[in-house]
Amino acid sequence: MATGAGRPAVLISRQLPEPAVQLARSRAEVDAYAKDAPMPRAELLERLTGKQGLICVISEVIDEALLAGRPGLRVVSNVAVGYNNVDVAACTRRGVVVTNTPDVLTDTTADFAWTLLMATARRLVEADRYTREGHFHQWEYMLLQGGDVHGKTLGVVGFGRIGRAMARRALGFGMRVLYQDAVAADPATERELNATRVDLATLLRDSDFVTLHTPLIPETRHLINADSLRTMKKTAYLINAARGPVVDEAALVQALTEGRIAGAGLDVFEEEPTVHPGLIGLPNVVLAPHIASASHETRLRMATLAVENCLAVLEGKTPPTPVNPEVLKRA
Ligand code: 8YV
Repeated sequence: MATGAGRPAVLISRQLPEPAVQLARSRAEVDAYAKDAPMPRAELLERLTGKQGLICVISEVIDEALLAGRPGLRVVSNVAVGYNNVDVAACTRRGVVVTNTPDVLTDTTADFAWTLLMATARRLVEADRYTREGHFHQWEYMLLQGGDVHGKTLGVVGFGRIGRAMARRALGFGMRVLYQDAVAADPATERELNATRVDLATLLRDSDFVTLHTPLIPETRHLINADSLRTMKKTAYLINAARGPVVDEAALVQALTEGRIAGAGLDVFEEEPTVHPGLIGLPNVVLAPHIASASHETRLRMATLAVENCLAVLEGKTPPTPVNPEVLKRA
C-alpha cells in the first residue's frame, strides 16, 4: 500500500544524478541506495518489500523469485534501453509494468561506438601508450599504421535507433552501409542513410567494420561466434557496444590472436565486470567498462526518464516509454 499521506513508496537501487532523485522525492517516499555499486541481492529483496516502484539498473536481476515475494510491486523502471536483466514475461503475468529509457541515449551511445571504431582502426590507445611511455624518439614512416575508416563498408547488425545513428555517422565518412535486421527499414530511410539490407553472412563477408546494435535475446546470444568470425575479412574490425553475450568472447580472443580479424573495440563483455583474460594482453583491442551512454547529459536524461516512467505508473498515468504496454491496458 502507498505510504506517507498516500504517496507511493519507491526503491532506487543505485546512486543516480541528484536532480532525478529529487524529482522522485517530490512525488514519492523514496528509499535510495547510496552507492554507485550493485545492491546486494538480499538487501534488494529486503528493501523492495512493501514498495510499489523500483528504479533499477542492469545489475539488478528482476526475476520470478523477486516478483513472487513482492505482490505490491507495480512498476520496474530500468535505467537502460536494454532490459535483458528483467524477466518481462513474468512481470507481464503479474501485472507489473516494465519501462526502459530509449531515445535519450541513442546519439550518445552511437558517438561512443564510433569512438571505439575510430580508436580501434587508428590504434589510438596504442599510440597514446607509446607516447606516454617515452618511445617517441624519432618520427617513423611505418609507425602505428592502422586501417582507413573513410570510404569503407560499415556493417550494422541490428538497425534500430542506435544502429541507424551509426549509419548516419558513416555518411560523413563516405562509407557504404550494409545492415542486417529482422525488419527492413523503409525505403526513404535506406536512401537517406545509404544503407542496404543484407543477410548476416553477406554483411560479415563484405564489411570492413561490423558494429553490433542488437538487443540480447536468445536468438542473438553468440550471434558472433567462431564460424561467423571465420567469414569476416582479415582486415575487418568488430565493434560491440550492445551486450557482451552477443559475442562468443573465447572465439573472439582466438580470432584476434590468430590474426583472423584486424581488431575489436568492446564496451561490453560476456561476464561483466569480468573481462576475458585473453583480451587484456592483445594490442589490437580497445576496451571500455560499459560507458557508451555515459555522458553527463545523457545519464541525467536517462535517470529523469526512468523516474518519470515510475511516477507515471504509480499515479495511474501512461508512462512515456513502457516495454509491456499490454499491462497498462489491463489496469
Ligand atoms: C547503461 C545500457 O549504461 O541502456 C543500456 O541498455 O547498456 C547502458 O546505457 C546501462 O545499461 C545502465 O543500466
